[in-house]
Amino acid sequence: MTQDELFKVLVAHCKEYGFIFPSSEIYDGLAAVYDYGQMGSELKNNIKSYWWNAMTRLNENIVGIDSCIFMHPRIWEASGHVGAFNDPLIDNKDSKKRYRADVLIEDYLGKIEEKINKEVAKGRKKFGDSFNEEQFRATNPNVLREKAKWDTVHDRYVAAEKANDLAEYKNIIVDCGIVCPISGTCNWTDVRQFNLMFSTSMGSTSEGASTIYLRPETAQGIFVNYLNVQKTGRMKLPFGIAQIGKAFRNEIVARQFIFRMREFEQMEMQFFIKPGTELDWFAKWKENRMKWHVNLGMGAENYRFHDHEKLAHYANAATDIEFNFPFGFKELEGVHSRTDFDLGNHQKFSGKKIQYFDPETNESYGPYVIETSIGVDRMVLAVLSHAYKEETLENGESRVVLSIPAPLAPVKCAVMPLLKNNEELVGLAQKIMDDLKFDFNCQYDEKDSIGKRYRRQDAIGTPFCVTVDHESLTDGCVTIRARGTMEQKRVAISELRSIIDKQVNMNNLLRNL
Ligand code: GAP
Repeated sequence: MTQDELFKVLVAHCKEYGFIFPSSEIYDGLAAVYDYGQMGSELKNNIKSYWWNAMTRLNENIVGIDSCIFMHPRIWEASGHVGAFNDPLIDNKDSKKRYRADVLIEDYLGKIEEKINKEVAKGRKKFGDSFNEEQFRATNPNVLREKAKWDTVHDRYVAAEKANDLAEYKNIIVDCGIVCPISGTCNWTDVRQFNLMFSTSMGSTSEGASTIYLRPETAQGIFVNYLNVQKTGRMKLPFGIAQIGKAFRNEIVARQFIFRMREFEQMEMQFFIKPGTELDWFAKWKENRMKWHVNLGMGAENYRFHDHEKLAHYANAATDIEFNFPFGFKELEGVHSRTDFDLGNHQKFSGKKIQYFDPETNESYGPYVIETSIGVDRMVLAVLSHAYKEETLENGESRVVLSIPAPLAPVKCAVMPLLKNNEELVGLAQKIMDDLKFDFNCQYDEKDSIGKRYRRQDAIGTPFCVTVDHESLTDGCVTIRARGTMEQKRVAISELRSIIDKQVNMNNLLRNL
């Protein structure tokens, strides 16, 4: 199965098993908006709790808050979002479809890379064991031709991006013959800037109403509460404020399922520090966040850093933690050194003094900030796309299994009586369920054959299935079956809690950090 096919199958699986549904589906959906179903919301909650506890429980100097989506409109002027939170857009005059000019160019570059990779794959097939990829890339005429094309377009694109030269974006698109995938024509409008914030109005009468924005990041809710938290929590620098919440962006090109949505959720932490120490703290938080990811056991090789060449208006250093999604390595999280840009601007725009008095040096200054910012939905997609596997079993049957890290799995244990119409088996199974449900999210399942029930649980990633049979009524033991190995063991009912707990307890993950 190609990665493209795998992705389509994953999207269908997410819907079929209650993880993620297109929003407003009975009204034909709403573009780039998705709802989480019964399994998806459990998974999402577990991811959030792994992040929240790693931040606020493991660090005595990090506290959590929950600020509102609606904020004073001046905040978005101070933060630079009104003036600079834009994407370059271009319309095709024939299809009337709208695109991001930078994405059209990046896709074009991606296609050249694909061509090069195909040439390399052909070479590998032809030369077998004696294939030297480095030499092939440096000498094969087809590869060299495509590489030269890539370099020229890439250099022009980087220069245009740096200079914010919208006319040059259009020139590149026209010169490369990039056509609209719908109309197939190169009949483009000029490139314009498009602000990504959603606006609405607040106030009971239209005359008295003022325009407010749905927040495009949760971070500003932290900045404007800096003084409140610092004072009421008697926080000393360095300290952090963490927050999980919804953010909204009117993305021009929203695609790749929950990777880029118009309504999504962020987990952000602003770490306030003394100016001059930011590059040390930036390095520490880079390492800390990578450790949090790798600790989930989804393979260190599936993550990489991508340091930014072009920095956002607020940053003096920035990196992305990229994950190997089915459509390639893409940003999962950002770590940014935001200087005193935000606090400094809020001080200026609000007229309120936002400073820290350092009791050790007896001086006052505006703190600098290191930010870590991760999308909950992207994290859900990373976990699900890594977890999805189609396996052929020894007996020739096949199964779909989600190998979700056990502490994040929506359901931890399924309890099943061997037969549904045997009162004693059902009674004991329900008793076990009633006992375990205080510690773990459990599912009771009595329908269909045991084999079918195992498949259903594999498909939602349940780490354990417990089967109650006739012997259980006399020997006090049950069969416990593990998702990964499918190994079955006979264990005492009294041991179930500790066996399951060892694998699924979130604290085991947190202890390794
Ligand atoms: N406060 C900084 C900030 O918002 P960002 O790189 O724009 O930085 C941070 O966003 C993270 O939020 C991204 O790494 C990504 O995981 C997530 N994110 C951003 N836009 C998103 C979207 N449209 N849909 C889903 N997740 C998104």
